[in-house]
Amino acid sequence: MASQASRYLFLFLLGLAVGGICTVMAMRALQARQDPFPDSVMHVMDKHAELLSRSISHSRCAATDTVPHVRTLRAMANDLEIAFPGLAEDQRFSQHASQFRASLDAGLSTPPTECVAATQLKDRIRDGCKACHQDFRG
Ligand code: HEC
Repeated sequence: MASQASRYLFLFLLGLAVGGICTVMAMRALQARQDPFPDSVMHVMDKHAELLSRSISHSRCAATDTVPHVRTLRAMANDLEIAFPGLAEDQRFSQHASQFRASLDAGLSTPPTECVAATQLKDRIRDGCKACHQDFRG
């Protein structure tokens, strides 16, 4: 009786282990199929938008504090159509992307030198993120 119970326990544990291994393998395979590029572009932009906000909230608003982040955001913004080839044809998407790039260009051509202007620029950039996400982030 006791040996039968331990055999069932053994089979149960074996089943758990095999199930666990299969789940991990299936998830790896799923992940491998997904292109990491679009999310990577977004995460780099997210980081620099956050660093820009943080800099401003610490009253570091000189052009040397803000411009490097705006410049990186502008460079990443060139990749929006490459990152989302399925959306690139969509007129609203390209409008959002162009508008976003235009805000960044404006910020770079007349860089803010104090916190009020830097905050305005940051808000315009954030509005650009939000506008596109409202329409296209599922
Ligand atoms: C022109 C369109 C567009 C603009 C502008 C844009 N995004 Fe996105 N973003 C998207 C789309 C589309 C997704 C959804 C990606 C997906 O689900 O695969 C997304 C997703 C994200 C994500 C989630 C990524 C993930 O791992 O799921 C973050 C974070 C993000 N965006 C940050 C930003 C920030 C910060 C900005 C502005 C500085 C910005 N985005 C501007 C289109 C845009």
